[in-house]
Amino acid sequence: MSQSIKVFAPATVANVVCGFDVLGFAVHSPGDEVVLRLSDKPGVNIIKIDGDEGRLPTNPEKNTVGISVIKFLEKIGSTQGIEIELYKKMPLGSGLGSSSASTVAGVFAINELMGGPLSKEELLPFAMEGERLACGSAHADNVAPALFGGFVLVRSYNPLDIIKLPSPKGLYCTLIHPHIEVQTKDARNILPKQIDLQDAVEQWGNVAGLISGLYQSDYSLISRSLKDVIVEPVRSVLIPGFHQVKNAALDVGALGGGISGSGPSIFVLSTNEDIANKAAKAMEKEFLKLGIGNDTYISQINPKGPVVIG
Ligand code: HSE
Repeated sequence: MSQSIKVFAPATVANVVCGFDVLGFAVHSPGDEVVLRLSDKPGVNIIKIDGDEGRLPTNPEKNTVGISVIKFLEKIGSTQGIEIELYKKMPLGSGLGSSSASTVAGVFAINELMGGPLSKEELLPFAMEGERLACGSAHADNVAPALFGGFVLVRSYNPLDIIKLPSPKGLYCTLIHPHIEVQTKDARNILPKQIDLQDAVEQWGNVAGLISGLYQSDYSLISRSLKDVIVEPVRSVLIPGFHQVKNAALDVGALGGGISGSGPSIFVLSTNEDIANKAAKAMEKEFLKLGIGNDTYISQINPKGPVVIG
């Protein structure tokens, strides 16, 4: 058994416009890194968190990485002492699946360090518990794509049923993170508890259309299906300039897009890198007009999820 391991896990786009809590995909960057080390000192100890401006708890019971490592060790009946270092490479409250990337890096790392006793399917519930700690809800549309890579559908939560979806080879994602913060908990609290049947009909038509489009590499169908009549109208008010920013990307040829996860990041999908770059520039410009600084990320779909990097 090796003494230490370093793992990278990627950012993710949850919801993918019409699939609230059931669809997500992974990108290549940004992502978080976690180092785990075997220790003679009993228990799980977080010895370093870098890049969070001192905001994340170092108490392992209150930290998404810490708690998922503790639960993993309990599950396999191990009393091994573990030291954790967490390197945050993306902002908190960004809609980029920041807590999921850390948690997935942690559960993947501990499983590898302990000789791989559990499958990725078996690791998922540990990562979902991290999500519950981060925002009060154990949804899987960030953690599942961060863990499995690619596009993922959460067909059912009870029992948990995760379906890995294909995606067209040429698909590019442009992400823009405006420098404002939206907490997932708040963005969930403003959502309606009940929805109109007519809206539901439109929404599940689009979810089915998007999934068909991914299977058939049908860009026109993907584009037509990237519509959200339930969540976006409510949440977009939290993001200044949302409609201008999104429309600027569509005007230069992006297929469609919307809020990434619970925001404030916005994503669009494109058929090639050139359009993805143009979309980034167009969106950047709109946020800058409003005086909002931002970061952009351009990436193909990440088919792998977490990787051992040291
Ligand atoms: N599906 C989740 C939401 C993703 O939109 O609230 C954010 O964690």
